[in-house]
Amino acid sequence: MKKIYLLMTVCFLSCKTQKTIAPTGLVAEKAMVVSAREEASQIGTDIMKQGGNAFDAMIATELALAVAYPYAGNIGGGGFMVYRKASGEIGSLDYREKAPLASTKDMFLDEKGNVISGKSTETALAVGIPGTIAGIFEVHKKFGTLPIETLLKLVIELAERGVIITENQEKQFSNFRNELMKANGEKSLVSKAYKENDTIRYLALAETLKRISKNGKDEFYKGETARKLVDYLNKKGGIITMEDLAKYEAKWRAPITFNYKNLKIISMSPPSSGGVCLGQIMTMIAPFDLKKFGHNSLESIQVITEAERRSYADRSYHLGDPDFVKVPVKSLLDEKYLKERMQDFSFEKATKSADVSKGTISVYESDETTHYSIVDPFGNAVSATTTLNGAFGSKLYCEELGFFLNNEMDDFSSKPGFANSYGLVGAEANSIAPEKRMLSSMTPTIVEKDGKLSMVVGTPGGSTIITSVLQTILNVYEFDMSIQTAVNAPRFHHQWLPDEVIFEPNSFSSTLLNDLKRKGYIINEGNTPIIGKVDAILVLPDGKLEGGADRRGDDKAVGF
Ligand code: DON
Repeated sequence: MKKIYLLMTVCFLSCKTQKTIAPTGLVAEKAMVVSAREEASQIGTDIMKQGGNAFDAMIATELALAVAYPYAGNIGGGGFMVYRKASGEIGSLDYREKAPLASTKDMFLDEKGNVISGKSTETALAVGIPGTIAGIFEVHKKFGTLPIETLLKLVIELAERGVIITENQEKQFSNFRNELMKANGEKSLVSKAYKENDTIRYLALAETLKRISKNGKDEFYKGETARKLVDYLNKKGGIITMEDLAKYEAKWRAPITFNYKNLKIISMSPPSSGGVCLGQIMTMIAPFDLKKFGHNSLESIQVITEAERRSYADRSYHLGDPDFVKVPVKSLLDEKYLKERMQDFSFEKATKSADVSKGTISVYESDETTHYSIVDPFGNAVSATTTLNGAFGSKLYCEELGFFLNNEMDDFSSKPGFANSYGLVGAEANSIAPEKRMLSSMTPTIVEKDGKLSMVVGTPGGSTIITSVLQTILNVYEFDMSIQTAVNAPRFHHQWLPDEVIFEPNSFSSTLLNDLKRKGYIINEGNTPIIGKVDAILVLPDGKLEGGADRRGDDKAVGF
């Protein structure tokens, strides 16, 4: 009798895990790119049609986004890439910006030690040494199979042909028009009042890309482009020198890996907080039966919120550039430590962030980074998130070279306890120092299920990136959604400080929000129109690929 019962239980459990979910996104046979713009997804896919692998496609997609999506796509910024090869080999590349040699810990403070508003976001001092071009050449050197000229050809043609403005892009340009005019003058290419369906031709950028295609990485870091860039930044009051550019190098790093039930998660290591925080949060929530609680149910929201609160508190104290500070990764991901961390959680009452630690700040969220996911016909996967930090970065657009410069220096902690643009507070571990990389939240991630490639995922969203990646993973593996439905589902977020849960507006019932309020949660539906803009790929049981392109933007899956 006992045996029959056991057999029935096993069958029930395995039948349950084998449940097939009908895809709701684009399905492709063997290769796919999902990115913020159709042009970029198309170019990445075309490269794979020409025989290129996921790494070739990454280079083309990254640069196509610099053309088609100047809001965040870039050659004047940086990012992170996590990969998993068909063989199961994993790795990650850090092409994050660095602080210039002449930077100092107090560079954004006045004589009284107060943070000067806007200095780390809107001036030439906000610019970190760009890493994107070093990143793509590093990828090419290690894994590329097609010549760099072939990879850049379609991108250069796109820049010359021009990009058609979408409704969303019209908004992006018009929302920031004043700042763009202030930074670049009224005559700049980026200062015009663009309307939907206008075409912007990026001719200066095309020329820069042609020189890079011909002369390689050194063109950007030592050549004519470098000289023009340093000259431009100097005139704007910046401190980046030829030496800074020449010294910049992208770095291969061991990714963060951890298990969640039958999944292995592979994500970005410091100087991004993404992998560590995702690992902490998922380990803290693993003992709870989220499936039983239900998607976006009161109990699920409580468990996730409380795990996030504790992890973001750790983030602010312990994380920074591992080349400069000792980051206790192992201890932070230790199961026993994380269990203890959740010991004081109760379903009855919200924990107060002040009891976890202290600080007062305000939050700001947006979607100004960009992520793309790639799977190639050989079974290799690439997950990359790239950014200028703010919308159009520092807004500084070098007319002659045709690209925006980042304002990534704001991701450092300008002063302990002082919040940056994303409301994140930091400490000594993330203070400014020459050649140091600023802490990031970018979380390019790959999920293995039962030892096989299962999902490629990531998103923009500043401090909310980790949350969006987490909730997309849970939506698929706990709440049985297709990847497109998982990506589209409403999201919520907590980051320790400020002590509030933010919700995408008009997406959660007032009964649910009132229940949370009664338990002591502070609810904010106000200042966050969207949380993240996830672009993901799921490998279906039959080996086909489903794309999850976020409904919140112009994001698009293309495949074959
Ligand atoms: O690296 C980071 O965490 C930030 N610079 C990312 C900025 C971002 O996601 C902008 N979009 N909201």
